Amino acid sequence: MIVDPASTPQRDVYKLLIGSVVPRPIGFVSTVSTEGVFNLAPFSFFNAVCGDPPMVCFAISHRDPSKDTARNVAATREFVVNIVSEEIAEKMNLTSGDYAQGVDEFAVAGLTPVASEAVRAPRVAESPVSMECRVVQMIDLSPKPAGTDLVIGEVVRFHVKDEIVENFRIDPDKLKAIARMGGNEYSRSRDRFELIRPKV
Ligand SMILES: Cc1cc2nc3c(=O)[nH]c(=O)nc-3n(C[C@H](O)[C@H](O)[C@H](O)COP(=O)(O)O)c2cc1C
Repeated sequence: MIVDPASTPQRDVYKLLIGSVVPRPIGFVSTVSTEGVFNLAPFSFFNAVCGDPPMVCFAISHRDPSKDTARNVAATREFVVNIVSEEIAEKMNLTSGDYAQGVDEFAVAGLTPVASEAVRAPRVAESPVSMECRVVQMIDLSPKPAGTDLVIGEVVRFHVKDEIVENFRIDPDKLKAIARMGGNEYSRSRDRFELIRPKV
């Protein structure tokens, strides 16, 4: 099968993309509006993109009106990325509903907002790792309806639960991160194997 996205329905192209790029890590992004309303939503167009300084990115699909996360990030230039463990998978999913602007998804999902140190957006108490971020760049990648705004943020504070980390190494069996597959499927991070890089 060979597909030219330019002559293929967007829905099918999207299915190919999200079915192929798997498993996708999930950035559970908390923000606060200029009116002070907390917001929380998952994004699987998410990854780490720079080591020094540490940076992450995620992409928000266009919508009219804009998703709350897009509006809040553009207005405040700050956000927190929380990692989703198996324990909070269902709560994460609850926050992804199309709630009206002004709805606090922390309350919807029964998750606990905790004040951050360096940014106004709160972090998720139940997440094993949270990263406080300041926006480096926000890039509108495409004007099309299914285009996205790519948000790149510098991590200015890490919060890591003491019981999952030793000497800065996070134990994946304790982190229990989940990831997004195509459709409505998720994967756990339990089935792992090791490969040693060649020393050339
Ligand atoms: C696991 C998961 C991953 C998602 N990934 C994205 C994503 O990468 N980009 C996006 O725009 N929406 C994504 N969504 C949908 C948003 O979470 C959803 O539109 C949410 O309501 C946005 O919330 P907001 O309006 O409060 O910002 C995802 C949903 C789920 C459940």
